[in-house]
Amino acid sequence: MDKIGKRFERKVAIVTASTQGIGFGIAERLGLEGASVVISSRRQKNVDAAVEKLKARGIEAFGLVCHVSNTQQRKNLIEQTLQKYGKIDVIVSNAAANPSVDTILETKELVLDKLWEINVKASILLLQEAGPHLKKGSSVVLISSITAYQPPAALAMYGVTKTALLGLTKALAAEMAPNTRVNCVAPGFVPTHFAAFLTTDESMKRGLEEKTLLNRLGTTEDMAAAAAYLASDDASYITGETLVVAGGMPSRLHHVQNSLATILCRKGTGKLLHGTQSIRAPIHQNSLQIRTLKAACRFGSVDAAEVADLLPPREIINLNSRLFKSVEFYTSIHELLN
Ligand SMILES: NC(=O)c1ccc[n+]([C@@H]2O[C@H](COP(=O)([O-])OP(=O)(O)OC[C@H]3O[C@@H](n4cnc5c(N)ncnc54)[C@H](OP(=O)(O)O)[C@@H]3O)[C@@H](O)[C@H]2O)c1
Repeated sequence: MDKIGKRFERKVAIVTASTQGIGFGIAERLGLEGASVVISSRRQKNVDAAVEKLKARGIEAFGLVCHVSNTQQRKNLIEQTLQKYGKIDVIVSNAAANPSVDTILETKELVLDKLWEINVKASILLLQEAGPHLKKGSSVVLISSITAYQPPAALAMYGVTKTALLGLTKALAAEMAPNTRVNCVAPGFVPTHFAAFLTTDESMKRGLEEKTLLNRLGTTEDMAAAAAYLASDDASYITGETLVVAGGMPSRLHHVQNSLATILCRKGTGKLLHGTQSIRAPIHQNSLQIRTLKAACRFGSVDAAEVADLLPPREIINLNSRLFKSVEFYTSIHELLN
């Protein structure tokens, strides 16, 4: 952190749900870059402890209790910030809940309401409150998730609320332009309290690491750096965008290579393919991949139909720097699977 800049000097930043984890990391980063930061969460003792930690690092910090779905506390957050600092330059809306691991069709109505309320509605209501005070050059960052792109079974409805934030980012960017930019960060998996059920079990953690190209989980500092960039004037020509910070985890629904690689990894063949890297080359040009796929099919670890279904026919796909026709890809996959 020694070499960070000072992009937020004389700026005032509100970060919600910021007494630990990613929110705290973002507040700390903005503060170290010169911002006066307003942090909050549901519990006074957590707020006090976090303010102390920030102050110990020389950061100008102010904290209050704000449960994001409490109308009065949201109002108070904005009013107190204005009273203390006179303006708001940056708002990072970071709070989320994931109260259940049920499938979507089994999720109780009460839980559906809570997910919508905390993960989506609270951000909207907070911005309704703050909107009139945001001046030219201000910036909003929403915190979504990698699960927004392909909600996994155990995080299905949570993932869908995070998908909603991608749309909310686009819609609000249009509504709040040109004075306020609205962007979004989609973190990959970060070992915080929130993700502890996934990241404390060693084999689950390893599985998540293997889904990345960089072979590691994210850190709160990784997320903070991305949020700080989007909130800063360095990103002054960027609005309505989501920055995926997930170590190369698949983040587009129709990214053929990554989808294939995910399946292969899930089926336990990832190691043969050296992680997700080698699948990115055109398959018909790489005999190791062909042999691996054939072996995987022979041993029943890849279902031919499952692979074939993922391939969008008759489209040209841009594969990083290489271009090749998916029709050819489709045909060669069929050849080698049949
Ligand atoms: N960790 C990951 O792997 C991951 C991945 C993708 C996206 N994300 C997203 O990143 C964000 C932060 O997650 P995290 O992993 O940093 O969580 P975390 O470490 O568990 O921290 C959550 C923070 O939010 C506060 N909080 C919880 N509910 C709140 C509410 N209703 N109103 C206000 N504050 C609340 C907590 O403090 P109190 O208990 O005092 O309220 C705490 O400060 C979430 O939007 C999450 O969806 C996380």
